[in-house]
Amino acid sequence: MSAMSEPSASHRPAADAVDGATLERAIAAARRAQSQAYAPYSRFRVGAALVGTDGSVFAGCNVENAAYPSSLCAERGALMAAVAAGVRAFTLLVVVTDASAPTPPCGGCRQALVEFVPTLAVVSVSGSEERRWRLIDLLPDAFRPEHLSRQP
Ligand code: THU
Repeated sequence: MSAMSEPSASHRPAADAVDGATLERAIAAARRAQSQAYAPYSRFRVGAALVGTDGSVFAGCNVENAAYPSSLCAERGALMAAVAAGVRAFTLLVVVTDASAPTPPCGGCRQALVEFVPTLAVVSVSGSEERRWRLIDLLPDAFRPEHLSRQP
């Protein structure tokens, strides 16, 4: 491949910088969380794991509710746990489902995550299949804190 056609850093496939051991640790945490999913309405069980830049791992599962809109996605569950523990910088998000093909995070979760790490590597696993993205490619032109006059 010529230098001209090398992908730029921001356009390399996501997660190529994530080491295998970290990925395996996050997948294991997401699988454990998935086993705790409370999804009696959709029966779509999701586990997620966010890896902090300090190596910490925060897991979440989807938690549904009889009042359907009060349900929470696995990714946002993991994010809430991380922020509550004081971690806001992440290297990797792993999502685990039993879907027929790996599924990306929903729009609401993309927005929640882009607040903290637009370049986040996202790896979705279903069975033996895996897909990888970079968060900002899943949510281009995202609304960001800098769009507000008052910033955090
Ligand atoms: N869900 C997640 O937890 N994460 C996703 O990325 C997609 C959807 C949940 C929400 C709901 O409990 C069920 O999966 C079906 O949409």
